[in-house]
Amino acid sequence: MKKLVLTGAAGRLGSYLREPLSRMAEELVSTDIAEDIGKLYDGERYVQADLAQYDAIAPVLEGADMVVHFGAIVDEKPFEELLGPNFVGSYNIWEAGYRAGVRRIVYASSIHAVGMHKKADFIGVYAPHRPDTFYGLAKCFTEDLGSMYWDKRGLESVHLRILSAAQVNNPRALGSWLSYDDLIQLVTRAVDTPSVGFSVIYGVSNNDRCPVDNAKASFLGYRPKDNAEQFAEAVLAEASPADLSDPGEMCHGGPFAKVDLGQSGIAQMSIVDDRKKS
Ligand SMILES: NC(=O)c1ccc[n+]([C@@H]2O[C@H](COP(=O)([O-])OP(=O)(O)OC[C@H]3O[C@@H](n4cnc5c(N)ncnc54)[C@H](O)[C@@H]3O)[C@@H](O)[C@H]2O)c1
Repeated sequence: MKKLVLTGAAGRLGSYLREPLSRMAEELVSTDIAEDIGKLYDGERYVQADLAQYDAIAPVLEGADMVVHFGAIVDEKPFEELLGPNFVGSYNIWEAGYRAGVRRIVYASSIHAVGMHKKADFIGVYAPHRPDTFYGLAKCFTEDLGSMYWDKRGLESVHLRILSAAQVNNPRALGSWLSYDDLIQLVTRAVDTPSVGFSVIYGVSNNDRCPVDNAKASFLGYRPKDNAEQFAEAVLAEASPADLSDPGEMCHGGPFAKVDLGQSGIAQMSIVDDRKKS
């Protein structure tokens, strides 16, 4: 592959993806709204651009074979704040990608696209959208955008519904954890599988308590290796009994299923910023 573009390159997940992606193409163009992303890897170039501005992001995609689209505001916010980066930003990536002849987009979707489904229903990749927030609604919008561009314009996409790629420090994460090594395998498979059409797959490790079913996405070749059960004893020793009337306990979206629309879900979580230094 000649040129690969990574959006959200300054973010936590982007920090783990830059090096492996830089080895998959002659040139990796990393982009973000941040001023810089530190030391660059061999074959990597950085371009600062706002996803919400078509004229800023479109030139970044020129000549690209594929785009790994991870840039977004990563929390629940009022709709008006998410509209630019998370909704229009996705449209800009698909439309600019189509015009530039991009073959495939790999998208960081989220469990919050289906966050109001009950965990006990063990949903698969064809479960209907059931967003828990405006943030989740933007993930639904982008999955549908990907489906439409595949049907009408032949632009492939893989939508990675990541559950939680963060340190395991609560009972929900015993099921929802996606380790950074498994994230890298997931994105790598989404890039190097020869044909994907429009596909959806859950981004989750091989956890004993995994609450979703990836069987119908097995053709993508993703075989996670890590298991959050190694943290279970310590996490459960600290946990209070589950409240069965709480959507935050019962639904896939966890804290996002519980908060009011427009209110931060991340504020209810204790996410450690353990991004990789380049
Ligand atoms: N971390 C998780 O557990 C998780 C779970 C589900 C989905 N995701 C998705 O994965 C992706 C990366 O998440 P993360 O945890 O690395 O979050 P992050 O906040 O660390 O990274 C997101 C990046 O997007 C950039 N960005 C925001 N607005 C932008 C704009 N207008 N133009 C250009 N860049 C912009 C930010 O500057 C940031 O560097 C996101 O799309 C997120 O929705 C993450």
